[in-house]
Order: sequence, then structure tokens, then C-alpha cells
Amino acid sequence: MSSHEESVLSPRVVVGVSGGIAAYKAVSLVRELVLRGAHVTVIPTASALKFVGMPTWEAISRNPVTADLFDGVAEVRHVALGQQADLIILAPATAHTLASVAGGFAGDLLGTTILASSAPLVIAPAMHTEMWENPAVRANVELLRGRGALIVGPESGALTGDDRGPGRMSEPADIADVALGALVPKTLRGKRVLISVGGTREYLDPVRFIGNRSSGEMGTSLARAALARGAEVTIVHAHFEASLPSGARAVSAPTAQEMHDVMMAEQSSHDIVIMAAAVADWRVREPSEDKISKAGQGDSWSPDLVRTPDILRELGEHKTPSQLLVGFAAETDADEKVREQSARTKRETKGADVIVLNQVGRKIGFGTLDTAVTLISASPQSLSFEGSKTSVAGRLLDALPEH
Ligand code: CTP
Repeated sequence: MSSHEESVLSPRVVVGVSGGIAAYKAVSLVRELVLRGAHVTVIPTASALKFVGMPTWEAISRNPVTADLFDGVAEVRHVALGQQADLIILAPATAHTLASVAGGFAGDLLGTTILASSAPLVIAPAMHTEMWENPAVRANVELLRGRGALIVGPESGALTGDDRGPGRMSEPADIADVALGALVPKTLRGKRVLISVGGTREYLDPVRFIGNRSSGEMGTSLARAALARGAEVTIVHAHFEASLPSGARAVSAPTAQEMHDVMMAEQSSHDIVIMAAAVADWRVREPSEDKISKAGQGDSWSPDLVRTPDILRELGEHKTPSQLLVGFAAETDADEKVREQSARTKRETKGADVIVLNQVGRKIGFGTLDTAVTLISASPQSLSFEGSKTSVAGRLLDALPEH
């Protein structure tokens, strides 16, 4: 792996935490970054430690933590952390910390680290609305933005007391998206990407459905990876358990038929179309208006099932020459060759350019953060990727054929 790839897949990230109540949300941010493969060093300010203690930062980042300028003097720690960082995130950034960073103050480890670094700086402010709207704070934010810092949020919502308004720190996953996205080359800038996500539900009656185990994790990871590469992303989602990236346009399509209708309507305005959703192959011919009672059914019951539309196949039929169509194939056969052959057949019969093959079973593939996939294209060679769904999603997009 080149050092550039390494800094994208497992970047060294410094998370500077300043002293505001949102420090507790920074714990989730650090966890999110670690789960996505980052090597995180937390630098809390002295006031941040009054909100969240040292053991929490050490346990969650899996790294030793120090806030003291005079620790690790022999390793010249006060500048080394900044020099080595691929990325620095300030979350939460209080009004005081914003002022001190804007002013170039170097009175603590966080200050020296930021001054010694040329890495992208991502700032997630959090404070009461009056402070956020104060001209002094605005000026500091604009100064930092002008120097290239990426400012995430703040959002509008409930603050610490009874008050509401702008000043609430952005959600940890959104901060992680922007921050890690800053390291990724914008290879999909100007492209529009359409991704179906999750598992459809085919209703038997108002309370029961035929569903599947898809968590939506792979599809949302692909959407994040596409956003990070500069694409404009539309997510068409059935049922899912993952969180949706806030930078995408989301359209709900709970059933196979609804997903079909939305995908067909959206297809022509997108350059890359990815069918990551697990679509039910069968639906009930006539879903009941009322809850079906078991009285009168006897010991067994066979609902009248009919086929749903094969969306990928239809997308393949309507594909424009410049469009790239990506399907998935969930295969359970224990023999790798059989799995790959079945995926190659699906690629050809459905008219997809690429099929992403993943092995699924009771214990693999669903709801887990790790995955192993094989990318199958027209080339007889296939490419395999293994790792977190986040890193696999990025590598898959980077490996797509030219279009
Ligand atoms: N797919 C689809 N519409 C369906 C069923 C599947 O668009 N009604 C898509 C999936 O989103 C996936 C690809 O087709 O991108 C392959 O899905 P998979 O479940 O592996 O294959 P099936 O075609 O359903 O074949 P089988 O279940 O017989 O293996």
C-alpha cells in the first residue's frame, strides 16, 4: 500500500476536544473514527477533562492521551503529533478555542499541535446561540475558513439548558464523513451516483411482511465513499438499520415495486447506478387490508406469491452507453468457483457492467461491519477486497472500470 493510500485508509487523526458539554459527543466521534480505520490521538484541553476524563479518551481511542505540554518532551511531543497527523479535528470547538486557534496561541498541547501541522483542519463548533452569533466568534470562524479550515455545523436544535437554536455540535457520523472525506481525492467530482440501499418489505397484511436481513450498511458505506469522492448522491432506501449520510438526497421506497418505480424514474439522470439493496423476489398477490387471522387457516397456509420486478435487469435494459451499472450478488454456495460463476452469469443476464459478489450465510455478510467481496467485470480477472465495509466501499469505487 502506498503511503498516500495508507493515509486515506488508516489516517493518523488528532482529535482536539475543548471544554464544552458536547465533549461527551466527541467520545462517539472518536469511536466512529476508530471503527472506520483511523489511528486516533485525543488531545483534550484542561477544561475538556472536567467534562470527560482521561480513561474514557484512552479506552475509546485505544491510545495513550496527554493534555500536558511537558509530557513526552524527549520526543518533542508538542510538535511531533501535529507534524505526523494526516488530519486534525477540533470537536467540540468552543468560542474560546476558536479564538485561540484563530489567534495562533500556543499555550497548550492542542495549540502547539495545530500550529505545527499542515494537515487539513476540520472544526465542529458548539456553543450557545448568542455566542455563536457574536461578531467576535463570526470573525474568528471566517478567519479560520479563509485559511482553509473546514467548518462542520453547528446544527440548530436543543442546547444544554432550555434554549434551542443554532449552536449544537453536528452529529459524530457527519463530522467523521466530512473529516475523512477531506483526505480522499475527488475522483467522482461532477458525477451523479444513484444507490439503492437496505432490504425491501413485502406486506402480507398491515402488520406482517416478507423481509430480509440486509442492514443497509454496505449501501450507505458506498454512498459515503461516493460523497467523499465528490459525487452528488441519491439514495433510494428500503428498510435499513445504518445511518444515512447527511450529504445525500434520500428517497424512500419500502417495497420492491416502489423501489422499481423510483429507480427507473431516477436512472437516466445518473452516471453510476448501484443496486446494493436486497430486493425481495416475491410478493403477495393481494396483501390483505386487515390482519390475517389464523382461525380458518388449518395447520398450514400458503400465501399466493408472485414475482416482483427484477430491477437490475430492467436498469440493464435501459442503460445508456456512458452509464455504469453495478449490481450485487449474494451467494451462499460453499464453493468459491460456483459462487463466482453464478455472479458472472448474473452480470451477463442482467446487463450490469460490474457485479459485486459477496458470500452470505447465517453468520456472515449481514449486519456485520466487516465484509469480503469480489468485483466481477467483463475482464476474466476478478478483484477481491476484505476489511471494514467503509474501506471496502472506497476501494470498490476506486476499482470501478472507466466510464
Ligand atoms: N435484484 C433486483 N431486483 C430483484 C432481485 C434482485 O434488482 N427483484 C438485484 C439486487 O439488488 C442485486 C442483484 O439483483 O444487485 C442480484 O441479487 P441476488 O439476490 O443475488 O440475485 P437474484 O437475481 O435475486 O437471484 P437468486 O436469488 O435466484 O440468486
